[in-house]
Amino acid sequence: MNIQPLIKTSKALVAAGKGLLAMDESTPTCDKRFEALGIPKTVEARRAWRELIITTPGLGQWISGVILYDETIRQSTKAGVPFLKVIKEAGIIPGIKVDAGAKSLAGWPDEKITEGLDGLRDRLVEYGRMGARFAKWRAVITIGDGIPSTSCIEANAHALARYAALCQEAGIVPIVEPEVLLDGPHSIERCREVTEQVLHAVFAHLIQQGIVLEGMLLKPNMVLSGSKNATRATVDDVADATVHCLLRTVPAAVPGIAFLSGGQPAEPATARLNAMNTRFPTLPWSVTFSFSRAIQQPALDLWRGDEANVPAAQKALAHRARCNAAAHRGEYDSSVEAADIFNGPGR
Ligand code: 13P
Repeated sequence: MNIQPLIKTSKALVAAGKGLLAMDESTPTCDKRFEALGIPKTVEARRAWRELIITTPGLGQWISGVILYDETIRQSTKAGVPFLKVIKEAGIIPGIKVDAGAKSLAGWPDEKITEGLDGLRDRLVEYGRMGARFAKWRAVITIGDGIPSTSCIEANAHALARYAALCQEAGIVPIVEPEVLLDGPHSIERCREVTEQVLHAVFAHLIQQGIVLEGMLLKPNMVLSGSKNATRATVDDVADATVHCLLRTVPAAVPGIAFLSGGQPAEPATARLNAMNTRFPTLPWSVTFSFSRAIQQPALDLWRGDEANVPAAQKALAHRARCNAAAHRGEYDSSVEAADIFNGPGR
């Protein structure tokens, strides 16, 4: 295995002032988001939305890599230019989601196991030939009465490590994504306890499978109050709980941590990332974003499937990308949030 390209790509993905844009929603997930806004659930609407994202002016200033989906990596713009060409010309590294989704875990009715290891070696070779330089696999952990079970944590951690080993064998950087879900009435302390348990298991399996830690990235959840918990943790509480949890679990050899947004509204997600970087300026890893909803949603709300709304939607997308890039540098504040991305400072 030639590890130097893996290390180089990992570092490039978390370079200062940049982060990742996840646009790898599976067709059912994308359809669900379109349906909520009355956008037709068609291949063409999905293609048009993804074209809008990757042709956003200036995107490469803030976005290091985009995570594509099998349908998307094969698509082209309306004018016939392959998406992969557009992405590379924007100075962005293409990546690909390779898991086959979270399915019911046999014997554990309220828990999930992510599938997709069968045939993964061959799929990675194909994606690598197409130009994908990194991949993503998401495991889902639910907090509830008596769960997560050790069975669920161990099964998902094992699958993540097997995936990561296959990626590195193929010369592709694995992004390892164990997501502890936000849903539920649990406290931030419970989220921290579970996230810590999950990350310990994930790194134990990654090390057991011989993963080169310098050539991978971690994509975790932030440590948050459950969505139905009446006590809401402050921005600083979230930053402190998240960083303390990561310091106890993530080896310093890992070059970067790129958070998922997990259903947080866009602005709080940015503020929490910023607080981690301002309150902990000397962390061993680069701490950035790999958001889907917290970058895409404001733009999708504006687009609504209408071509006339493309410029406004692209402006909103660029704005969130720029705000999150500022948060990676610890430079996000209300003036960055208020700035008009294409027409100079907002005030
Ligand atoms: P969210 O930022 O919407 O959580 O999506 C990130 C992602 O890649 C989920 O797998």
